[in-house]
Amino acid sequence: MRLDYYLSHSQGLSRKDAKINITKSRVTVNGILIKKANHQVLESDQIMLGDVELSWPSERYYMMNKPADLVCANQDAEHATVMSLLPENLHKDLNIVGRLDKDTTGLLLLTTDGQWLHRITSPKHECSKTYLVNLDSPINDQAIAELTHGVMLNGESRLTLPATVEVMNETCIRLTIKEGKYHQVKRMLAAVGNHVVSLHREAIGSIELDAELSAGGFRELTSNEVDALR
Ligand code: URA
Repeated sequence: MRLDYYLSHSQGLSRKDAKINITKSRVTVNGILIKKANHQVLESDQIMLGDVELSWPSERYYMMNKPADLVCANQDAEHATVMSLLPENLHKDLNIVGRLDKDTTGLLLLTTDGQWLHRITSPKHECSKTYLVNLDSPINDQAIAELTHGVMLNGESRLTLPATVEVMNETCIRLTIKEGKYHQVKRMLAAVGNHVVSLHREAIGSIELDAELSAGGFRELTSNEVDALR
């Protein structure tokens, strides 16, 4: 990778400031002063900025208990975003793993690791997501059978993948799906003649929302949690 990219990524500098540090003779690579921003370096090289030895930052992984009323976006002109719950120094290179609607609460994952994100969100991998769904009308056996078999969503040409339904009470189900289409749960329930009143995500694959996290809280994932979704 280029030296200016290494510097900006490892130090949180703009590319311009990274270049200035290099051209002002502040950077050495393996003991040699380098003044070219496009000099190629490896993560394993010893890179010094002044007296400070730099290291390539490892990937970061977080879970958040998303509250209602925040949108899942890095920036939004009209609404507050989930990023506003994280300190600014964590924002760099952080991406939201799949979106929840503004009114949906519960488990949200965020990471700097693009491959890991792709593994979870790519339809090919059929990563499961579990939701607690409060309904307008009592759920009936016909609707459960249809959800379990697969339903045709408005505007789609294929049935949804079979879902798992656990009935909590007549107007609350735990639904596990292996896709992440736009408004999928709300559209699935609409397809069986019901209406979602509230939606809360409890789990993604084997990662469960930490019961200790209050709404708006976040924490780093453990390495076991990260590895479970690799
Ligand atoms: N399905 C929905 O309809 N909304 C969400 O936020 C997540 C899944």
